[in-house]
Amino acid sequence: MNTKERARNRWKLLANTVSKKNQDCISTPNISYGLFTIECIHAGWYKYSVCIQGDQFSANICRSPINVTPEELMGFNNTGNVRIWPSEEILAYYVLSNLSLFQNKTVLELGGGMSCLAGIMAALYGHCRDVHLTDGNPNSVYNVERILEKNVFTTKVSCSVLKWHQKPANICHYDVVLAADCLFFDEARDDLVHTISSMLAFGGIALVAAPKRGNTLYEFIEMAQQEELHCVVQQNYNTIVWDCHSKQVSYNSMYDTDSHYPLLICITKQTKIIDCQFQ
Ligand SMILES: C[S@@+](CC[C@H](N)C(=O)[O-])C[C@H]1O[C@@H](n2cnc3c(N)ncnc32)[C@H](O)[C@@H]1O
Repeated sequence: MNTKERARNRWKLLANTVSKKNQDCISTPNISYGLFTIECIHAGWYKYSVCIQGDQFSANICRSPINVTPEELMGFNNTGNVRIWPSEEILAYYVLSNLSLFQNKTVLELGGGMSCLAGIMAALYGHCRDVHLTDGNPNSVYNVERILEKNVFTTKVSCSVLKWHQKPANICHYDVVLAADCLFFDEARDDLVHTISSMLAFGGIALVAAPKRGNTLYEFIEMAQQEELHCVVQQNYNTIVWDCHSKQVSYNSMYDTDSHYPLLICITKQTKIIDCQFQ
């Protein structure tokens, strides 16, 4: 069986699982950590607000969810148009809790889905030098364009379609790369690793939030290590997020840590040490 056939079979399996069990995260949008207050402003538009250590943050976010059937899931790119996934909310919360990481930095979000919420928060509050928001799905990026029009930024911010298997014409190196819930696509994992590796600056950091989901997170880490990326996995990276997770564990019988709780992978690029031997 070739790679494409293997990938197709995996997606069939996922589609069957969703249609049979109706339990996967795709079909249980009620798993939420409730970190943001979400207020409907007008049709399809929401104000995401949060108070962190006495500071108020908010963003106007357009959500245009589609009804995803198992057939549509076969085209993996629609996963970012289903909803804003908990990993993205958590990454956005992490960004707002660690704003000093972003000051005067260039920031790239990969696979940001219909909101790129984490990158949007960095652009609004991080005093970044430049923020670029991307996804492989043009509908997601169209939604992000609308979000950019409805918020006021003091930072230069842009968005575009970026598919991980396509090498961008001009490779920029970013100080911070963000990605949420992008590790479970078996057929795209190595492309994601290559994209991070080629677009992350030496001395920069990639913040990747994703649930463990079986072996998927560790397979990503293995591939990243083969690319000489240094990965540190954190479980308890924010006390508020950890409390929310602990409450879910205690009170929500549908909650499954392995498939729901996003771990945080901090990735840095090793500087190549060239061993010069003079003879
Ligand atoms: C589960 S969604 C997560 C979206 C968003 N980060 C969130 O958590 O709400 C995965 C995202 O990865 C994007 N994606 C999947 N494969 C991709 C690829 N090969 N190139 C670029 N984006 C891809 C999808 O379009 C989708 O938006």
